[in-house]
Amino acid sequence: FAGVARIPVVVHVVWNTAAQNISQAQIDSQIEVLNHDFRATNSDIGFVPAPYTGLVADARIEFSLATEDPDGNPTTGVTRTQTSQASFGTDDKVKKTATGGIDAWNPDKYLNLWVCQLGGGLLGYAQFPGGPAETDGVVILHSGFGTTGTAAAPFDLGRTATHEIGHYLNLFHIWGDDGTGCSGSDEVADTPNQGGPNFGVPTFPKLSCSNGPNGDLFVNYMDYTDDRGMVMFTNDQVARMEACLDTARPDLNQ
Ligand code: ARG
Ligand code: ZN
Repeated sequence: FAGVARIPVVVHVVWNTAAQNISQAQIDSQIEVLNHDFRATNSDIGFVPAPYTGLVADARIEFSLATEDPDGNPTTGVTRTQTSQASFGTDDKVKKTATGGIDAWNPDKYLNLWVCQLGGGLLGYAQFPGGPAETDGVVILHSGFGTTGTAAAPFDLGRTATHEIGHYLNLFHIWGDDGTGCSGSDEVADTPNQGGPNFGVPTFPKLSCSNGPNGDLFVNYMDYTDDRGMVMFTNDQVARMEACLDTARPDLNQ
């Protein structure tokens, strides 16, 4: 695509307790975060250590709540479903009406974001491009979604959705998903080789896999740090996401 890609989003709020039926303000706060993070206009981008500032990239992707539903009718871009399920896991039950969730809207045309209670300390999960249509999209824990309402520190800056949408647009974890070894790759040329995930908010430089002097790019959205520690995508990550939109998800940009 040329210029900026514009992606319509449907947020499916699936709630068991009233608190999980998150507010419109909380939903809007998440969309706002995405529009900063994927344009590199986030106010905390100065957290990138000086030697790495040249890698910072604008993904040229913007998100908005859908204004037209799959039948062509006006919509708020939000669905709300009460469920008897106390919590969900990575088994995709939240993505199906028949299993206590709600079915996806046509994933060729919409980014489906399900927001619900998740078990096992899970913040969210995503489906990579090329998977089954019925389960395509991203699931986010309600208390890791947006910046207000039920959003809770240290995952209250909306970065779980930024990270998961990275996966949805074909990005792997920055350490290469090989545990803590040095042989895995994220298939991205400009990210340093990194041993394993980083947690909390590390101090620069954090070395692994002989990647000195500057070490891990722990400020990247595809690491596992706290929300306030992840602030950027790289040029080559952006190229990978844009290639995904041009090939695997061509009808998403509207
Ligand atoms: N653990 C999640 C995953 O497996 C997401 C991590 C998001 N991190 C964050 N600081 N919000 O993809
Ligand atoms: Zn991840």
